[in-house]
Amino acid sequence: MAAQLPAQAGALPDFVLRQFDPASGDPDHRQLYRILQSGIRTAVLPAGLKLPPSRAMAQALGIARNTVVHVYEQLALEGYVQAGVGRGTFVAAVGPRLAGFAGLAAQPLQPARRAALSSRGSQLVEQAGAAPLQWGAFAPGVPEVRMFPSQVWNRLQAQVWRAATPQQMSYATGHGDAGLREAIATYLQGTRGVVCTPEQVVVTSGTQQSLQLVAQLLADPGDTVWLEDPGYWGARSVFRALGLKLEPVAVDAEGLAPSAAQLRAPPRAMFVSPSHQYPTGALMSHGRRRQLLEYAAAQGAWVVEDDYDSEFRYGARPLPALQGLDDKGRVIYLGTFSKTLFPALRLAYLVLPPELVDSFARALNELFREGQTLQQAVLARFLAEGHYATHIRRMRAVYGARHDALIAAIAQQFGSQLPVIGGDAGLHLVLGLPQALDDRAVVQKVLRAGVATRPLSMYYMRSPAPAKGLLLGYGAVREEEIAGYFALLARAVQGFL
Ligand SMILES: Cc1ncc(COP(=O)(O)O)c(C=O)c1O
Repeated sequence: MAAQLPAQAGALPDFVLRQFDPASGDPDHRQLYRILQSGIRTAVLPAGLKLPPSRAMAQALGIARNTVVHVYEQLALEGYVQAGVGRGTFVAAVGPRLAGFAGLAAQPLQPARRAALSSRGSQLVEQAGAAPLQWGAFAPGVPEVRMFPSQVWNRLQAQVWRAATPQQMSYATGHGDAGLREAIATYLQGTRGVVCTPEQVVVTSGTQQSLQLVAQLLADPGDTVWLEDPGYWGARSVFRALGLKLEPVAVDAEGLAPSAAQLRAPPRAMFVSPSHQYPTGALMSHGRRRQLLEYAAAQGAWVVEDDYDSEFRYGARPLPALQGLDDKGRVIYLGTFSKTLFPALRLAYLVLPPELVDSFARALNELFREGQTLQQAVLARFLAEGHYATHIRRMRAVYGARHDALIAAIAQQFGSQLPVIGGDAGLHLVLGLPQALDDRAVVQKVLRAGVATRPLSMYYMRSPAPAKGLLLGYGAVREEEIAGYFALLARAVQGFL
């Protein structure tokens, strides 16, 4: 618990002190930034309020003064506070400008509701990573949903509904549609080198739900989970919300790279994206895969493999899944239809070691009830009749062309001034920015120009973030529109260089 602020430190509502948790595992600067930013957005910290001097704030929270200075500077850059030399730092009047581009930003929570949240609920909301804008240039991770073959889907849906049984429309057992489990197993064996039977597949309503099951069934609160750093904020949020201790592990060109000290303290589970590291795009090398599996088997740790978008690789063929190399039953394989079809479908799956299947199905049934049972049957037909493979082939060509157009636009605007990271697979790439640059401020500015991106620094748990950049998705923008949108973005970025 943080100390009380000294009286001369200026007014600061209790909620800042109450929310700041030095033991949370989240970097100090990120916590403080989020607490202050959300307080200002929700007007709990009203316009004109004077923030305590950085030294007093640092003392009260027991953190470095530089951290507070950095947070104040970032808030000033984004217009949340105004700093006058010698006068102090004051909360700015935050108008609709900061409510987000075209009103699409997340709606701030009402203060009354915020006050009612538990401390872990507050933490979840404060540290949420989901983007307010989920469509358009250059929203990362979003596929081209306008090209989804909805006529085929409609036809299959009508067939399924004509023959719908009471069992299909009632509560199910938690394993998933039998036809879909079979189609998924066939697909994974043929394209991803996954070694499994249909009985090892459990269908869920999204990777987020798969992760909840993994965390609740394979770890207890307080157990350590290794997370790639930078890494997927969605996994971070689920594991944190369920009380796991998050250990950020660096990623190099060969994938997850734990330090010697980290290797001496084995985790309960490690979350990795070996086929296309999120967000850097690194492909885990064969040697690293073997080391990781051997280590996991020796330590009795689980390897949670997130294989979310490896269908889209533009140069070489996709590398098979890590799961196929595992002969000790330590890998939990996660797949999703969010990238290959469309995110709102909310269908995903786990491939589990056989002895875990029934426990996962039972827990899924117990906690969530199985979802989308008739949609699962439609999807089973969509896969079995070859429409899925056709759609992926078609989209690979579309994304390949968009990827090339974006690379060309970057070269035209910046030459080789800014590096492109991880640009040969998936639905996004990272445009590197100089380390001294505040990539969050760039994202805010670009958003005002009508372009959605995400700052690389938000994917890091370590502070300060070891690299800066912008995640640029090319799934949700037409090839012919890419140069124009990128020119808008480039103009905004130039202002910072
Ligand atoms: C790294 C990563 N894994 C998985 C997913 C898919 O999540 P879901 O299946 O819940 O849509 C995403 C979506 O953004 C992602 O970025």
